[in-house]
Amino acid sequence: MTNFNIVPDRRKNFNLTKWTWYEKDILPMWVADMDFPTPKPILNAVRAMLDHGVLGYEIPGKRLQESVAARMHKLYKWRVQPEAVLATPGVVSGFSVAARVFCSPKKGVAIQTPVYNEFHEVKNNMGIPQLDIPLAKRVKGNVMTYEIDWDIFERRVKKAGIFLLCNPHNPLGIIFSRRELTRMAEICIRHNVIIVSDEIHSELLLDDNKFTPMARLSREIEKHVITLIAPSKTFNVPGLFCGFAIIPNRELRERYEKELNHQRLHVASPGLHAAKTAFSGTCDSWLVELNRYLTGNRDLLVDYVTKYMPGVRTTVPDATYLGWLDFTQTNIDGSPFEFFKEKARVALSDGKIFGKEGAGHVRINFGTTRAILKEALDRMRRAMSEL
Ligand SMILES: Cc1ncc(COP(=O)(O)O)c(C=O)c1O
Repeated sequence: MTNFNIVPDRRKNFNLTKWTWYEKDILPMWVADMDFPTPKPILNAVRAMLDHGVLGYEIPGKRLQESVAARMHKLYKWRVQPEAVLATPGVVSGFSVAARVFCSPKKGVAIQTPVYNEFHEVKNNMGIPQLDIPLAKRVKGNVMTYEIDWDIFERRVKKAGIFLLCNPHNPLGIIFSRRELTRMAEICIRHNVIIVSDEIHSELLLDDNKFTPMARLSREIEKHVITLIAPSKTFNVPGLFCGFAIIPNRELRERYEKELNHQRLHVASPGLHAAKTAFSGTCDSWLVELNRYLTGNRDLLVDYVTKYMPGVRTTVPDATYLGWLDFTQTNIDGSPFEFFKEKARVALSDGKIFGKEGAGHVRINFGTTRAILKEALDRMRRAMSEL
């Protein structure tokens, strides 16, 4: 059993962005990595590599491709040919390559806002239009849910070269249903739009939720999908920068691979070893415990907001360790991100970075101990009570 209540002091390690970006008295609940140590089998695999002493070049080989294919089969009964798997230095580089290949100044990138800030950078980096498809917010009591407005979806997506899907969704924590995914896919196929499905959070499932990759829905849909996955969020190895693009359609894959090679996007060997170990299944019991702990944190967050933060709305995420809070109905004047940083000494992610609908909202990272999460919420509550 892993005790997720005990974590190392992250101000003292090497990869310390989360804990040192802000001043020392600020509690960091922002960037999306967790405070928990990486599971032991992965640490041991990386350690064995270091202990050998020679850190030569490593080209991702057949065994690695097979380990990704085996993981897809184990999790979803999805049969992926190993050659359909390409290694990338992460998911962000993975969707950037896709945009480079399949978009143009006339055919942009469609995204469902509010959404992960890096999705908004694609337009700047590639010089292409961004087509926002705002998700429609519904509120019941203090709980927010978001739905697809199908008219807007079709109107915007048909002008795109790629539809960049975030599933599970950051920051909203939604797992889209098979029905929704099928309808999205049908519309994209009708308009000849490639679906790039960012599934980086797909193994961080809360409660007993299940996940289906977009490409798993049917062999016809699979032909139009580039699936992006990585061990980084699930097993907390984001600093090792390793991801995978799964592209069963050979024509798409060849175009994608050509650009990947063109950009010389190589993956460092510790990331490849971590991925192979992560996908081998040796960390799966750790993952079950992690997801249980994260579910407890999600419940704490939702209960706390409901009981002690009147006027504040929250999502109830199905997946991820990311909460999304709406302060537009409170008497916080201006940006809640600034307010909590100054008055509560808690650093959240500013809702605005996820799109203009995010103004007045913040994202909170609950991938930490219950004690740290509670401390952050207590500080926020105190700051609000002093208004
Ligand atoms: C939806 C999503 N995609 C991609 C990433 C980052 O991917 P990578 O570090 O593999 O480039 C994140 C990190 O927060 C994310 O939330």
